[in-house]
Amino acid sequence: MRRSRRPTWAACTRRWQHELARSRRTRRTSEDAAVSLLEVSGLNSYYGDSHILFDIGLRVEKNEVVALLGRNGAGKSTTLKSLMGVVTPRSGSVLLDGVQLAGRKSHAIARAGMQLVHEERRIFGSLSVEENLVIAGLTAPERWPLARVWEMFPRLKERRNSRGTDLSGGEQQMLAIGRALMRSPKIVLLDEPFEGLAPVIVQDLMKACRTLADAGQTIVLVEQNLAATLQLAQRVYIINNGHLAHEGTAGELRANPDVLHRYLGV
Ligand SMILES: Nc1ncnc2c1ncn2[C@@H]1O[C@H](COP(=O)(O)OP(=O)(O)OP(=O)(O)O)[C@@H](O)[C@H]1O
Ligand SMILES: [Mg+2]
Repeated sequence: MRRSRRPTWAACTRRWQHELARSRRTRRTSEDAAVSLLEVSGLNSYYGDSHILFDIGLRVEKNEVVALLGRNGAGKSTTLKSLMGVVTPRSGSVLLDGVQLAGRKSHAIARAGMQLVHEERRIFGSLSVEENLVIAGLTAPERWPLARVWEMFPRLKERRNSRGTDLSGGEQQMLAIGRALMRSPKIVLLDEPFEGLAPVIVQDLMKACRTLADAGQTIVLVEQNLAATLQLAQRVYIINNGHLAHEGTAGELRANPDVLHRYLGV
């Protein structure tokens, strides 16, 4: 990605964000009821000169499942990538547990407790299921025991010695999620985890996501499967052409087909 050629403004913004975050770190934690686990504001992201995200703001409470919906190309994946530092936002604030993450590298953001499960899954095909999981946890400050991943995905335990390339699409998705969980993240971002999978596998994965949410895992979910999303998420943001277009509870959205029609065409 091309970086801005206006360093003075960018440097000032970063410095200001850094100072703001430092002052916040001393007084804000997720224990403070008024503070969300994730607080995003004024997020602007570009690919080269193309402005993709416009002042995106959102919040996610601890233990909450929040969904991002929007048409193809709306900017959902770019939002997740901007949170995770895969795309460096040009401006804006991403506070996780009071720590400023905007502008930091992905590995630093991962260490701070965020994990992104990419649409394309990104598992190591030449390694076994178990090796994939163990490697994912290696550099984590805290990690899940393998047994907890096996409990969540018994199918992975059965296939623990199989190579990544020998797994079905559904098994690969379970492994991709398992890899993220191995690092015991404060928040996990799932980009279209059900895409391209058979309905019976989607049911399995939904059950696993439900169990995860019930155990208190904070999740941001991007999904095209509206029914599944509204079952899993408590709150929903809709992104339209890179702008935040709607925020509400899943119940409100279900009762408001006009919004669904306007922004999602359903
Ligand atoms: N690597 C890239 N380089 C340039 N433009 C990109 C790149 N990735 C995405 N875009 C563009 O950015 C916009 C937002 O894309 P994004 O992938 O965030 O959308 P999305 O909401 O996740 O869509 P989908 O539902 O298809 O996954 C689109 O116009 C897309 O064409
Ligand atoms: Mg996408």
